[in-house]
Amino acid sequence: MTRIIQISDPHIVPHGQLAYGQVDTATALADCVETINRMLPEIGPVDMVVVAGDLTDFGTEEEYLRFREIMAGLELPYRAVPGNHDNVAVMRACFSDRPWMPSEGPVNWALDFGDLALIGLDSNVAACAYGNLSEETLSFLSGTLDAQGGKPTIVTMHHPPVMTGIEKMDLQNLRDSTKLKAILSGYSGELRLTCGHVHRNIVAPFGSVICQIGPGVSHAVTMDLREGAPNCLTKEPGGFLLHEMRGGIVSHHIPVGRFDGPYLFYPDR
Ligand SMILES: [Fe+2]
Ligand SMILES: [Fe+2]
Repeated sequence: MTRIIQISDPHIVPHGQLAYGQVDTATALADCVETINRMLPEIGPVDMVVVAGDLTDFGTEEEYLRFREIMAGLELPYRAVPGNHDNVAVMRACFSDRPWMPSEGPVNWALDFGDLALIGLDSNVAACAYGNLSEETLSFLSGTLDAQGGKPTIVTMHHPPVMTGIEKMDLQNLRDSTKLKAILSGYSGELRLTCGHVHRNIVAPFGSVICQIGPGVSHAVTMDLREGAPNCLTKEPGGFLLHEMRGGIVSHHIPVGRFDGPYLFYPDR
């Protein structure tokens, strides 16, 4: 049974800084790494971790090196796609030793686990908050899906193509998703589209597939569905997703941290 952990939006900042003056994102990512490692006996084995973008806050080399330093403690292999806060050129240079990082072009990659395929797509548009998939990326997706023969597949990219009701985030989601919807909806097998960017666990239909936005590992975008709501973060508990092949793709939300328990429901039985 293939299992994939999805973490998203670590937003690592330089040493000595807090993201947005508020959030110790490096500690949050370290806590996430500790949580995953500690839980592996209960939830594993896990085959791969995918980071769904916004690895860093400003896309600098210092931040990517700090990200790598923290992730070096993870007892699992990982891959990543860029988000709007990433700088693709700097990210490419900082991960040039990783086999999944292409030497040029969009950061697209694919991995086959036998019972499940995992595809990463680059939705970054340089210096823009919104996302877009280039013709090259759409062609990569289409060709890779054609080769899967209907195998259950998870496609991961940073920007969701769906509306969440959080106005300021919906203004910076994926642009022009018509071709993406046609490609995904035309796939013959089970397909799950997973994203980041909104720092919340949200599920919505996208054509004939499920789009699942994963939580951030540290702060959340504030849950405020009012029109004109300000663009805010809230220090809700971070979390990550565990996707596993269990007949179909089953996804679990797991909070980062240590919690009281477990307790037997009925210890006297
Ligand atoms: Fe983010
Ligand atoms: Fe983002």
